Amino acid sequence: MKNIILIGFMGVGKGTVARAYATEFDAFAIDTDDLIESMENRKIKNIFEEEGEPYFRDLEQKCAKWLSKSVENSIISTGGGFFKTKSIKKIGTVVLLDSSYEAIYQRILAHPNAKKKLAKRPLFQDPKQAKKLYKERSAEYKEVADIVVNVEDKTPFEVAQKIQELI
Ligand code: S3P
Repeated sequence: MKNIILIGFMGVGKGTVARAYATEFDAFAIDTDDLIESMENRKIKNIFEEEGEPYFRDLEQKCAKWLSKSVENSIISTGGGFFKTKSIKKIGTVVLLDSSYEAIYQRILAHPNAKKKLAKRPLFQDPKQAKKLYKERSAEYKEVADIVVNVEDKTPFEVAQKIQELI
């Protein structure tokens, strides 16, 4: 199987869908933020605070290069800005998980650990700023995507099924 790369805005459920897909269709689930945290031995939040965003974006680029050369049979969930990396199309089929901003924000707030979910995301500290970023990125996500799946009102397993159907 060629890799599948899930892109989309913060909080849309990329990691959850990747794990559901891996369980259902016998693939490996990998997350780029997890890879970066283990490369650096520190949390994304601390990388942003201690080194700044451009440093983090360089790490994403390194990660994209490594994935394109070394990984197969995997479904890869990515950070919300990973779609801008140069080698993304070389990694595999790019699938956008799409949702309205309101549904994303409500999804985060509905989580039992909502505070933690927001606190760990440096670019989701102010909902107004996050909405602005969402608007800026909306069309860009669609340009990069090979496939778009709307995730609103779907369970992670339903989204996984839909991805399988479309690929
Ligand atoms: C980011 C999204 C985050 C994380 C970092 C930057 C972004 O990942 O990579 O905080 O630029 O949208 P999630 O999409 O998992 O929140």
